[in-house]
Amino acid sequence: MQIRDAVIVVTGGASGIGRAMARRFAADGAGSVIVADLNAEGATTVADELAAAGVGSRGVGLDVTDPDAVAAFIDASEAEFGPIDLWCGNAGIGANGGVELADEIWDANWNVNVMAHVIASRILVPHWIERGGGHLLLTASAAGLLTNLGTAPYAVTKHACVGLAEWIAITYGEKGVGVSCLCPQGVRTPMTEADGELAIEVVKAMGMIEPEDVADAVATGLANDDFLILPHPEVSTYEQRRAGDRGRWITGMQKLRATLPGA
Ligand SMILES: NC(=O)c1ccc[n+]([C@@H]2O[C@H](COP(=O)([O-])OP(=O)(O)OC[C@H]3O[C@@H](n4cnc5c(N)ncnc54)[C@H](O)[C@@H]3O)[C@@H](O)[C@H]2O)c1
Repeated sequence: MQIRDAVIVVTGGASGIGRAMARRFAADGAGSVIVADLNAEGATTVADELAAAGVGSRGVGLDVTDPDAVAAFIDASEAEFGPIDLWCGNAGIGANGGVELADEIWDANWNVNVMAHVIASRILVPHWIERGGGHLLLTASAAGLLTNLGTAPYAVTKHACVGLAEWIAITYGEKGVGVSCLCPQGVRTPMTEADGELAIEVVKAMGMIEPEDVADAVATGLANDDFLILPHPEVSTYEQRRAGDRGRWITGMQKLRATLPGA
């Protein structure tokens, strides 16, 4: 996937990892970078910054879980900037807690972390097949390959996000649809700012990196057409250990959990 001259959408681009990716794509010569976020003001601020640097950009208020709004957004973006080459489905939310959490919280995690990607892919994949190419980057998480202690909705929906990315890659890869799945561990963003929540304390204890480090890994991963982009390389080892002996991995995670404050 070549960034130079590409038309790129970044959802959840108003802050954190999305903003760092948008800035990195602009610096790497993207043709245009469209920033979409529930936070319209934040998206506009980022887009204005990129436009000031000479990159075609627009910040748009968008709820990625609203199918009609996403369809209208894709139409308007393509009318203004041309066919979308790269869609970064990056907007995501978390929750602190387990199966006791209310259905509304489970539904929100499911809708943002999984269904938003289905909604966008349903429109973009047929476009890309017709045009002979396009690339989907989904921001899942290391939680989607392993787990995230302290948050069931996040761990479960990020697993589904990885599964969706794999399924689209397998089904449409030979038709020109590239797919990358971004799976960071802890990243210093507004999402990981809270203190005292087990899910976040675990991530902090594992070692935090900056959003710009994630954007570096994304730039390299896209240039190499990697499916899995792992800004924390150790996640690959953890994943292999999990796959090698699931029972042993679960026992290890139980022991780790028992050592954590608030567990
Ligand atoms: N921070 C981490 O440690 C970490 C680790 C692994 C994966 N991730 C993933 O990275 C992605 C970006 O998160 P971040 O850490 O940069 O956090 P963030 O809170 O800075 O960014 C998330 C953005 O998504 C937007 N958003 C939420 N719901 C939306 C919706 N319905 N429609 C449109 N936009 C919406 C928010 O307004 C926010 O700007 C998420 O998918 C997250 O799950 C984060």
